[in-house]
Amino acid sequence: MRRFDGRNVLVVGGGADGPPRPGEDLAIGNGRAIAIRIAAEGAAVAVTDRDLAAADETVAALDGRGLAIEADAADPDACRRAVDIAESDLGPLDVVVCNVGIASGRALHDQTLDDWERHDHVNVRSHWLTAQHALGPMLERGHGVFVFVSSVAAVLGGSGVAYEATKAAQVAVSRHIAVRYAKRGIRSNTLLLGLIDSTMARREFGDIAGRMDVRAAAPPMKRQGTPEEVAAAAAFLASDDASYVNGTTLVIDGGLSAI
Ligand SMILES: NC(=O)c1ccc[n+]([C@@H]2O[C@H](COP(=O)([O-])OP(=O)(O)OC[C@H]3O[C@@H](n4cnc5c(N)ncnc54)[C@H](O)[C@@H]3O)[C@@H](O)[C@H]2O)c1
Repeated sequence: MRRFDGRNVLVVGGGADGPPRPGEDLAIGNGRAIAIRIAAEGAAVAVTDRDLAAADETVAALDGRGLAIEADAADPDACRRAVDIAESDLGPLDVVVCNVGIASGRALHDQTLDDWERHDHVNVRSHWLTAQHALGPMLERGHGVFVFVSSVAAVLGGSGVAYEATKAAQVAVSRHIAVRYAKRGIRSNTLLLGLIDSTMARREFGDIAGRMDVRAAAPPMKRQGTPEEVAAAAAFLASDDASYVNGTTLVIDGGLSAI
């Protein structure tokens, strides 16, 4: 399938920060897998990351044209600048994937102001700023698609309070875009991810004995999801196959939230 031939896509947080799966050389996270999948279907893909080497590594793995952009999502100017760089290099953006996210896992009694604000800046503010900056040219052209990478933590407790709150806020931003701009050709949807064997999980939990096994045992499917499965869902929402899908959430969790 070449659903993105001729399209330009920005993946925010498209590097990968964590170890590879056993036996593999390239570490695969959700953002990187999405960039690789969409490029394999024909898109030119701009990848932002606060770590330029991580973005470069993704671009080197793309089948097709790519662009690595150094941008810290916690910096408002960098968010806007990344959109400008992507558009001036690749051309008008058809799709923006808001993937970047952090999770400290703090419970309420342990929550600090600094940590809360960091979650807000990276998990929410970066995404509305990026979307706001990308939106204008999309409205002029009468088409554009946003895909937000959120978590089942948006609707389920059990992780950190700042993570849960900011992942829920991401859904609200996406829904706002979907309702407000649909009649002008914009779609926006959100992925709610369950337990995914991505770089984020391997970095945070890989060294804790038994933790990845516990994660694998939790969903009815008795395994974690893969970043490639996340990427397949993101590519669907970003593509014309989802032309009448707007303002919704797609749960990718192996049945975890159905228990
Ligand atoms: N793995 C899971 O179980 C799981 C579950 C639910 C949701 N998610 C979501 O998946 C997304 C991340 O997955 P991933 O595997 O791509 O993660 P990752 O930790 O590998 O991060 C991807 C990239 O983001 C970059 N990054 C981190 N902070 C940044 C910042 N401030 N500015 C710019 N770049 C920054 C990292 O350098 C990394 O290269 C998050 O939104 C997360 O909430 C993951």
